Amino acid sequence: MRKYCKAYELALPHVRKIDGYVPGIQPQNNGWIKLNTNENPYPPSPMVAKAISAELNNLSLYPNPESKPLRKILASRFGLNINQIIIGNGSDDILNLLVRTFCGKGTSAGTITPNYTLYPVLAGIQDSSFITIPYDREFSLPIESIIDSPANIFFLSSPNTPTGVTYTRKEIASILEHFSGILVVDEAYADFAKETILTLVKQYRNLVITRSLSKSYSLAGLRVGFAFAAPEIINLLDRIRDSYNVNRLSQAGAIAALKDKLYYKEIISNVIKTREFCAQKLKDLNWFFYPSQANFIFTEPLNAEGTSGPEVSQSLYEYLYTRKILVRLLTSSPLTASFIRISIGNEKQMDITFKAIDSWLKNA
Ligand SMILES: Cc1ncc(COP(=O)(O)O)c(C=O)c1O
Repeated sequence: MRKYCKAYELALPHVRKIDGYVPGIQPQNNGWIKLNTNENPYPPSPMVAKAISAELNNLSLYPNPESKPLRKILASRFGLNINQIIIGNGSDDILNLLVRTFCGKGTSAGTITPNYTLYPVLAGIQDSSFITIPYDREFSLPIESIIDSPANIFFLSSPNTPTGVTYTRKEIASILEHFSGILVVDEAYADFAKETILTLVKQYRNLVITRSLSKSYSLAGLRVGFAFAAPEIINLLDRIRDSYNVNRLSQAGAIAALKDKLYYKEIISNVIKTREFCAQKLKDLNWFFYPSQANFIFTEPLNAEGTSGPEVSQSLYEYLYTRKILVRLLTSSPLTASFIRISIGNEKQMDITFKAIDSWLKNA
């Protein structure tokens, strides 16, 4: 008989210690208003389904290993060279490539917290240490602390998660001028923002910008993300990338989506309009929120007595949940525990949500 295999004991010691990333709830039954993981409420361009069904005929063949046609489209769209672009299985794949390239035992990665919780998980998988610089209540960018940190790689999200606030080119450039590591600016939500720092990539060799088709292009299920950086960095990432990291259907769907500019202009502008409608509603309620440039709003609910706090946000979360409205509660930090993050749905979904909030105020 085979000897009992003690997998846990065979696992590397640092792997035994880590907790995996916990994604937001993805309900498997219908009828939810899903405002918890910042997906787009509109469907992808009809061109995506057409391109994917045509591509079904080619599934016996491996995909283009470098996703070259996609790199070409993005190069011409953003005025960059093809050697400044890499494509990933979602932008998470690229964050993973970055950590695998620049972090390991004896080195560190860093971010400002609270932030996207995948960053420390990826560093932990590499047995790298992780530096966390806490935000203040204003969520202002601690430029000097980032510059002084010994991190090999430092992650910022802009628009920031969970606040939705963007950092200016000037702020980012002042970090890049003096920071000796790689600065990753995660622009997963940039298509909803007024400003991006894209052009800085031509100027700074220590900048990586990551982007996603999951949010603005309604393609979270297809898993396509990309990054812009100096050719030297892209070359390093390409060395460790899975040879076929983006499958045929995803490449075909992403190309079709990127070509349908008019469709996406319209749905992105709808999301922005609805975001501003929600901001006005929150103002009317007198609830504090950060000025979001993303497809979500982070707000601190007040109950009928005008009180805020973790119990209040929990009570609202639970009330909405019973009405099959799913928002995000971020209980892990005192800076976020009394807030809820609401993804921007379509007008009807937001209308239902604000009616449910009114009824919570009357009944809770
Ligand atoms: C800041 C940030 N970066 C990256 C991602 C993941 O993007 P993708 O779906 O392209 O992997 C998310 C998803 O919620 C996010 O909030």
